[in-house]
Amino acid sequence: MAESYDIYAAPDPELEPGEARCPGPSVQDVLESDQGQTPETLKAQSYSYMGNEDLPFDRYTSQEMYDLEVERLWTRTWQWACREEHIPDPGDYYVYDIAHYSVIVVRGNDRQVRAFVNSCPHRGMQFVDSYEQGKCKQFLRCPFHGMSWNLDGGLREIPCRWDFPHVKDDEFTLDGVACDIWGGFVFINLDENAQPLDDYMGVLPEHFAGTPLEDRYVALHTQKVLHGNWKMVMEGFLEAFHVLATHPNRLQLSSWANTQYDLFGPHVSRFHQPLTSGNAVHPRPLNEREVYAELGHDPDELPEGETARNAHAAKLRESLSKELDVDLSDVPNAILLDSIEYHLFPNACFFPGINIPLIYRFRPLGVDKTLHDIMMLKPVPRSGRPAPVEAASLDLETSYTTVEGFEYLGLVLDQDSDNFKRQWAGMRTSRKKGQTLANYQEVRIRHFHETLNSYLEAGR
Ligand code: FES
Ligand SMILES: [Fe+2]
Repeated sequence: MAESYDIYAAPDPELEPGEARCPGPSVQDVLESDQGQTPETLKAQSYSYMGNEDLPFDRYTSQEMYDLEVERLWTRTWQWACREEHIPDPGDYYVYDIAHYSVIVVRGNDRQVRAFVNSCPHRGMQFVDSYEQGKCKQFLRCPFHGMSWNLDGGLREIPCRWDFPHVKDDEFTLDGVACDIWGGFVFINLDENAQPLDDYMGVLPEHFAGTPLEDRYVALHTQKVLHGNWKMVMEGFLEAFHVLATHPNRLQLSSWANTQYDLFGPHVSRFHQPLTSGNAVHPRPLNEREVYAELGHDPDELPEGETARNAHAAKLRESLSKELDVDLSDVPNAILLDSIEYHLFPNACFFPGINIPLIYRFRPLGVDKTLHDIMMLKPVPRSGRPAPVEAASLDLETSYTTVEGFEYLGLVLDQDSDNFKRQWAGMRTSRKKGQTLANYQEVRIRHFHETLNSYLEAGR
C-alpha cells in the first residue's frame, strides 16, 4: 500500500506564511518521472506569498463595485470576443457584449478583422442585436434610417444626404475599438490607449508556443447563466482545493492537494493538476497497478517498473491520435493528460491540454448573475478544419449533462454550478465581513484581486 498523508495535520510552526505545501509527490516530481520531453514552461514555478487578510464580501455583492468595474475594468482590459473561425469571410460579424458595452467584430473585404462600437453615429441604434453573429453584405447598414458604413469603418452613404450638410464624410466614421488576434481568438479592448495585446499577455504566448490554439477548432461551446457575481463564479475555477468536497467521484486519481499554482506578472496565473498519478492524500492511496486499473486498463498489462501514468499516456496517445485524426506522438504527458489552466486577466481561462482542452470566459449579467462561456478546442484534424459548433444556451436550471460531448465533465461542471447558488446566498447573509483564503492554493484569487485593484484605483 502506498503511503498516505494526513491533510488535517496542524500547520508547521517553523514555516513562514506561504511556504507550506501538501506532502506527497509535487507536480514537479510527477513531471520528472514522465517519459518524453516536458516543456520548460511547465517546469517553471512562480509563487509568491501575497498576504492573508480576509477578502471583503462586498467586493462581490456591492453595486458600487459593479459600477466601478463597468467604468474602469471592462473599458481598459483585453477580452476575447470570438474565434477567428467564427468570422472566416468578408462581411462575417460577431457581437461581443460586456456589461452595457457592445462591440461588433467584423472581417473586412481586405480580410482584416476590425472592431467597432455597436452603435450608429446617427442616433445610436445598434447595428446588430447583442450576442448576435452573422453575415452582412459589403457594408454595415443601420436598420433604423439606412445609413451605411464600409467594413473598414468609413462612411458609405446617407439617405437624404441633402439634409446633413453639417456632416463631414471623413469624420462621420464608425467608432473603432482596439482589436488583435492571438491563438485564433479575436481580442478587443475598449481603451483608446490600450497597451499592445502582446505586452498585456506577458508569458502567455511563450507558454502556448508548443500548443498553438490557432490550430484548434471549436468542438463544443456552451453559454450558461449562473448564480452569483462573475468574480465569485470565476474564482470557483481558479483553485483545486474544492475538489475534495465538491468532486468526490474521482478522488483516488486526482492529486488535487498537490496542484501547483503560479503567478506570472499582473495578468496571468496558472494551476497544474495532474489527474493520472494517484492521490497521495487519499485515505486509501492506490498503488501503480490500481491506478492503472482505475484508468480503465488491465493491471496485468502494466509493464514492470513502468508508472501507470506513462503507460496510460502511451495508450491514450495512440487512441486519441486515431480518434481525433491528428499526430499526438510528440505530445508530452502533462499536455496530454493534465488539467493545466492559465487565467488571463480579467475574465478568461485557456487550457493547453489535449484531453482537457477547455476555454472559459466569465461575464457579469448585473451584480448577481454570470454568463459562463465554455468551449472545448480540439486539434484540427488532418482532414481539414471543421466549422465551429454553435453555442448552446443553458439557463440557470439546465444541467451540463444535457450537452452532448461533455461526457463526465458535465457532472463535474454541475457540481461546480450547484455551489454557486449557495455561495452567493451565503456571501450575502454572512456577518463575517470577508472570506479567509488559503495562502497557497487560493493565491490566484488574491493575485486577481490585486490586479483588479490596480485598474479600479487608477484614475481615481
Ligand atoms: S440611427 Fe442609424 S441610420 Fe438612423
Ligand atoms: Fe470544480
